Amino acid sequence: MSATAAEHADTRAHAEDAALATILEVLRERTGTDFSRYRRATVRRRVLNRMICLGANTFEHYLDMLLAEEGEALSLLQRITIKVSRFYRNSATFDLLRRDILPELARTNGRRPLRIWCAGCGYGEEAYTLAMLLEEAGIPGTVDASDIDPGALSAGRRGWYPPSAFDELPAALHTTFCEPSERGYRVCERVRARVSFWRHDVISDAPPPGEERFDLVSCRNVLIYLDAEVQHQVLRSIDAALAAGGVLCLGEAEWPSAALGQTLRTMNHKARLFRALPMHSRAAAPPPFAGSA
Ligand SMILES: C[S@@+](CC[C@H](N)C(=O)[O-])C[C@H]1O[C@@H](n2cnc3c(N)ncnc32)[C@H](O)[C@@H]1O
Repeated sequence: MSATAAEHADTRAHAEDAALATILEVLRERTGTDFSRYRRATVRRRVLNRMICLGANTFEHYLDMLLAEEGEALSLLQRITIKVSRFYRNSATFDLLRRDILPELARTNGRRPLRIWCAGCGYGEEAYTLAMLLEEAGIPGTVDASDIDPGALSAGRRGWYPPSAFDELPAALHTTFCEPSERGYRVCERVRARVSFWRHDVISDAPPPGEERFDLVSCRNVLIYLDAEVQHQVLRSIDAALAAGGVLCLGEAEWPSAALGQTLRTMNHKARLFRALPMHSRAAAPPPFAGSA
C-alpha cells in the first residue's frame, strides 16, 4: 500500500470509529443502555448488519438515519442483543438443577420461598423453565426475569412461543405446563404467575430489590457480550446479590474471573455452577435494596 493509500485508510478508520462512538452515544441517550463497554468487534459487526438491512453505505450515513428516525434506536438495540434461546437450553444444566440443586436449596431454605434471578432473560424461555421446575417439584418460589430490551420483556410477559422453542424441553414438562395456542404454545398461568419481568441493566443497575438475597442466579450467555473488565464488575454485583450457600449458574461459554474464587466455589465445571461461600461480608452486609429495576 502506498503512503497516501495507507493515510487514506487510516483517516477512514478514524472517521468510522468516531461515527460508531456517536451511534453508541445516541443509543445510550435514547434507550438508556451504554454499549460502549461491550466488545467493540461484536457491536461493530451488529451495527454493520443493521446498516446492510437499511442500505446505509457508511457509519456516517447510518448515524444520519438513526438521528432522523426515533424508533431506530430500539431496532438497533434489538439487533445488537440477539436473543437466541430455548426452553431447557443446554439440558444437562437443567437436569442438574431439576434433580439436585433446586430440591437441595428448598430443603436448606426451610419454608421460605426460593428467590431466583434470571439476568439477561431474553424472551423468557430460561426464566419460565426455572419456574416450571419449581412448579413441578412443588417448591414455593419466584423468578425475577430481567433484560435491557423492553420488547423482549413484553414478549416474555405474554408467554407465547413457537413450537421450536420447546425442542429441548422434556415432554412431561411440555405437556404439563404448555397450552396449545394459535401461535404455537403458551406457558400456563400458574407458571407465568411465578415470573416477574423487569427492565434491568446488569452493568449499571443494582440487583432487583427484595428483602432476601437470591438463592439462585442464572446469567447465561450475557457476559460474552462484555469486555473483560465489565464482566468482572457484573459478576461482583451478582455475587453480592447471592445468599450464602446460594448458587450461580453461568452459560457454558463463560467463566468467572479468578478474583471471585474467594467468594464462589465451583460445584460443576461443565455446567458452570458455583456455590456462594458464607463470606463474612456477605453475611454482614444488608441485602441489595436498590429500586432501580
Ligand atoms: C443470548 S441472550 C441469552 C438468553 C438466555 N439467558 C439464554 O441463555 O438462553 C442474551 C440476553 O442478554 C441481554 N443483555 C445484553 N446486555 C445486557 C445487559 N447489560 N443487561 C441485561 N441484559 C442484557 C440481551 O438483551 C439478551 O436478551
